[in-house]
Amino acid sequence: MKEIIPRPQSVIEAKKGGFFDLSCIDALEIDEKFSLTASVIVEILEKGLDKKLPSEGSKPLKIGFASELAPQSYRIECDENGLSIVAGDAAGALYAVQTLRVGAMFGTPQKNLLVPCGKVNDYPRYRWRGILLDEARHFFGEEEIKKLLDVMCMHKLNVLHWHLTDDQGWRVEIKKYPLLTEIGATRPRSQIHGWQSTDVDDVPVSGYYTQEKIKEIVAYAAERGISIIPEIDMPAHLAAAMAAYPWLGCRELKRDPHYYFGSKIPLSQGIKDWNRSACIGKPSTMEFIKGVIDEICDMFPAPYFHIGGDEAPKDEWKDCPACQALIASLGLKNEKQLQGWFINEVAGYVKSKGRRLIGWNEVLEGDILDKDVVVQYWTPQRDCKVIKHVRRGGKVIISKHRYFYFDMPYAQYPLKNTYMFNPYFEGFMSVDDNNVKGIEGALWTEWVSTPSKLEFQLFPRMEALAEVSWYGGPKNWKKFLQRVRDYVPLLDSYGLNYASEEIYRDPNPFRRLKKIKTWYGGNENVEYEKNDNKH
Ligand code: ACM
Ligand code: ZN
Repeated sequence: MKEIIPRPQSVIEAKKGGFFDLSCIDALEIDEKFSLTASVIVEILEKGLDKKLPSEGSKPLKIGFASELAPQSYRIECDENGLSIVAGDAAGALYAVQTLRVGAMFGTPQKNLLVPCGKVNDYPRYRWRGILLDEARHFFGEEEIKKLLDVMCMHKLNVLHWHLTDDQGWRVEIKKYPLLTEIGATRPRSQIHGWQSTDVDDVPVSGYYTQEKIKEIVAYAAERGISIIPEIDMPAHLAAAMAAYPWLGCRELKRDPHYYFGSKIPLSQGIKDWNRSACIGKPSTMEFIKGVIDEICDMFPAPYFHIGGDEAPKDEWKDCPACQALIASLGLKNEKQLQGWFINEVAGYVKSKGRRLIGWNEVLEGDILDKDVVVQYWTPQRDCKVIKHVRRGGKVIISKHRYFYFDMPYAQYPLKNTYMFNPYFEGFMSVDDNNVKGIEGALWTEWVSTPSKLEFQLFPRMEALAEVSWYGGPKNWKKFLQRVRDYVPLLDSYGLNYASEEIYRDPNPFRRLKKIKTWYGGNENVEYEKNDNKH
């Protein structure tokens, strides 16, 4: 059996060797505590062993509960007569079966059902191991999401952070505000040729999920041990909503959902009024936000709500009588504190609904953040605030750009960056371990318009993310590269696209520099060479 990804914490092979042949298994006994993931466990094993597994037989595989094991943890014991699994919860039971499946290469030509005798004792380094998917910039739809959830589960990832709204599209039905999807889910065209370009195409982009569909996908994820955390970005990155309801702005401008992505070009090219914050001073804005949060919480049972909170311009607030009146009446010092006040207000509202707020690290800007807000750390420019937040007991999720922004070219952020990630090189210390909830890889999709390119950006980065977030132990880059090669047939078994080794570890720094320049110069497909991009 090859070394799997992510690597288990402890594998001890029996001194005397020997194997158990999984094909002997004729039944499956699963503890009833694991009913949430049981159907997926059965599906993986029945497909892999190519037979039906009733609940009774002469050689059953037993998957039992062990109260001493933490959630998400499991143990496998294997000798020549059989194999048994115990787990701390339904996710742990599923991960044990994923370990067998990846080890035995189910669904691939390399399938090998002989499991070496020995013991596996496994548990995650971080409880939170996620992927952010931006479906606002481009919309991929149910089939691709379910495929990703399946593959995330194989990698033992357990959070899908679903970026459902942004300037360029609103992708979730809100019954109280139907124009959000009637108007906000369609933009007429898209910026092309990279961040600095003013070129646009003439291809409308639209799509959204109904509430019924969201609930179905949330349930599908739960069966795979995955929580879906919705992100409704505010007070900025809200232009699609402002297109639907212009009264959300300090100035009521009639605009389409945005079709520019970059923040630099519009201003430098004289294109104004594109990256705007909602008006915090008008009571109607807060009423709108609460109405949206109510319906989002009905769709997503997870105890977290992501508010975004990033990149919020303050200029309109400076000229807005309503915003200025609020600043004065609250005794705030400035517009940064107005943003801080707003985040705390929303945090309080979601708390009243049993949810905890998460925001990008800009939510620390006003220096008045509610300590219970979880901060997602993406940009290196605000290190000390994140570290300070952690030191005073705040929680953090790490998505730091150079390791975990999977939308960027491999030439710029090679696979090795992700694999070599170590929180202690980033200002965190071992005393902070309890406050680091986990890690997320972020797949923004300004320049990703097809499932095939989405997968190209994501694989094999997902393997490195799984390794650092689940295992988190000593590293061996050379061995990891071989393990990534060995893993390819498993990706093939899902029909996934992925980057070639030549792309993800191009050793030539000059060629990489040229690719980066070409990318910033406007060729967003400098690495991705297939010709199926929409644009
Ligand atoms: C971000 O990339 N604006 C969170
Ligand atoms: Zn205002």
